[in-house]
Amino acid sequence: MRKTIVAGNWKMNKTPKEAVELANSLKDKVNGGAADVVLCVPFVDLIPVLEAVKDTNIAVGAQNLHFEDSGAFTGEISAKMLTEIGVKYVIIGHSERRAYFAETDEIVNKKTLKAIAAGLTPIICVGETLTQREQGVTIELVRLQTKIALQGVSGGAAKSAVIAYEPIWAIGTGKTATNQEAQDVCAAIRQVVKEIYDAATAEAIRIQYGGSVNAGNAKDLFAMADIDGGLVGGASLKAEFEQIVNF
Ligand code: 13P
Repeated sequence: MRKTIVAGNWKMNKTPKEAVELANSLKDKVNGGAADVVLCVPFVDLIPVLEAVKDTNIAVGAQNLHFEDSGAFTGEISAKMLTEIGVKYVIIGHSERRAYFAETDEIVNKKTLKAIAAGLTPIICVGETLTQREQGVTIELVRLQTKIALQGVSGGAAKSAVIAYEPIWAIGTGKTATNQEAQDVCAAIRQVVKEIYDAATAEAIRIQYGGSVNAGNAKDLFAMADIDGGLVGGASLKAEFEQIVNF
């Protein structure tokens, strides 16, 4: 039985001071429920938010990392910098990074391998544009993204990884995939994991849905057979996040 995992992706929102205020306002309400809860916050907010949630079950995640250990990569953050301060998760290949920062499937794969080697749990994002959905290539595309992201990842590591299916047309638009649309793609992701590894790995890996998740739709989405929680953007910045976590 897979445990539901709900992660808030704060994106480029909240200064350190604001981040602590938000973490403090949420922590008692989202701690100790049925789901694993992760707050994925901007880099400069990581340490203060880790401090704010330290006596809770809430985990803290980053929104990106670099695939090299160290060196001349101005502006980048390494896996080791994250683990040393207590970060447990990292979002990899979010569609905004793919679209605005030219992240390719190959880069997503390198980052996934580095995150796993460092002991971070990757939250690997996949998903199609509206054009791709209309072209009928969603399943092929998401299968391809998943396959490349997991190149060289062992079955053992894949079991504890998280994949987030985020249709790009549903992100920040208020337009959610229907429960069935989301389920169909999440089932296809689980199927490709089964083809790469085996049934046990496919059963274990957690697959989230992301894209305009809110207090009104979370319960039904998370009840679908292959959806194990959500990656939540806008609604994770509000008190509403409590209702999503305690769906
Ligand atoms: P919204 O929940 O704001 O649509 O964002 C989804 C997302 O991109 C989470 O990573």
